[in-house]
Amino acid sequence: MAYITGARKQPSPSHFVGSGKLEEIAAAVHSHKAELVLFNHSLSPSQERNLEEVLKCRVLDRTGLILDIFAQRARSHEGKLQVELAQLQHLSTRLKRGWTHLDRQKGGIGLRGAGETQLELDQRMIRQRIKSINKSLAKVKGQREQGRRSRRRAEISTISLVGYTNAGKSSLFNVLTRSKTYAADQLFATLDSTLRRINLPNYGPAIIADTVGFISHLPHGLVEAFSATLEETAAASLLLHVVDAANESHTVFSEHVNEVLTEIGADVVPQLEVFNKIDLLVNCEPHIQRNEDGSPKRVWVSALTGAGLDLLQQAISELLAGTLVVGTLMIGAEQARLRSQLHAKGFIVSEVINENGNWHLQIRLPITELERILQQGARFEPTPQQVVKTAPEWSGDEHARTA
Ligand code: GTP
Repeated sequence: MAYITGARKQPSPSHFVGSGKLEEIAAAVHSHKAELVLFNHSLSPSQERNLEEVLKCRVLDRTGLILDIFAQRARSHEGKLQVELAQLQHLSTRLKRGWTHLDRQKGGIGLRGAGETQLELDQRMIRQRIKSINKSLAKVKGQREQGRRSRRRAEISTISLVGYTNAGKSSLFNVLTRSKTYAADQLFATLDSTLRRINLPNYGPAIIADTVGFISHLPHGLVEAFSATLEETAAASLLLHVVDAANESHTVFSEHVNEVLTEIGADVVPQLEVFNKIDLLVNCEPHIQRNEDGSPKRVWVSALTGAGLDLLQQAISELLAGTLVVGTLMIGAEQARLRSQLHAKGFIVSEVINENGNWHLQIRLPITELERILQQGARFEPTPQQVVKTAPEWSGDEHARTA
């Protein structure tokens, strides 16, 4: 493989690159016996054709490459239709200007109308296919909307996985949904392979949706092609923004993802960052990082080893449930395990140990968690006026008052 860069200010209208650069590319094609030249830019159909003529091999531009990748990766019926639609639209612009040199041909029996050129025939077939795909997509869209409505009626939250391509969304989707409840639940599971029901500990059922991978400068046509899937994202209760923590460029990638989210109106949906692939990092234990208000901001996990998935479920449940309490928790020296669990979940704001070896932990945590901890014999004293967000039914309990 050869990697060639250039610093031309204005692309040449005929070949995108200047003649010197073209010679350089041609030489590289020759010496590497290359079968494909990729341009990390958008090429016009005529530039693509002119380049192919000179280089004597296939030339693909950025959109063409992305479409090829998406075509290989699309899993759902809908995804496949969306990619095919985008491919056909991309192809039709190439046909329009690319094949006009073909002579008019005579009509063949039953195949084409009299005097219809090959170009016209191809364009007609493409138009028909585009029409039929649009019809199927409209049907799927209708089903999706219906599904969303019934989920809303049943008050089931939807969690949507988003992230840069290769961040590990599908891997996470698979490990999070690898539960027996899936097979039993056909209600929403059948709609699409990228929508599944999960059961969250301390919360209950939710639907999790996998989406397409985002790419820097995603061609606008593709954003449109995937609008139905992306609408799912904008309508979600919570976004899991999956980030490949081991990739050096992850900050830039995240920015690109957030740009696309803004473009589709999903920037207002609450977001939890999932820093994945911690198995590739040195000295990184799974843990939850929190915002100043104590709500989960980022969870460090590995979809590959399963490390931190319990914390991820915990953080999701908390964000969906949204009830936090603040106070002091008193635990004995023998409860070291409980203390380290509270640390990993990011519940401990500060801590002191007294002369008897007992811990006084300043904690901020969801009410459901507190109830679980109190069953283990810890004592809790709420800080007055410090029940964050809404906790209408909570008025303290026996353990709390004895503190
Ligand atoms: P797109 O479909 O392109 O959007 O990718 P994706 O975000 O769905 O990523 P996918 O789950 O396909 O994972 C991409 C690659 O990362 C695969 O080779 C996975 O095996 C690998 N991978 C995913 N999670 C982890 C992880 O926690 N650790 C390591 N080491 N590799 C992982």
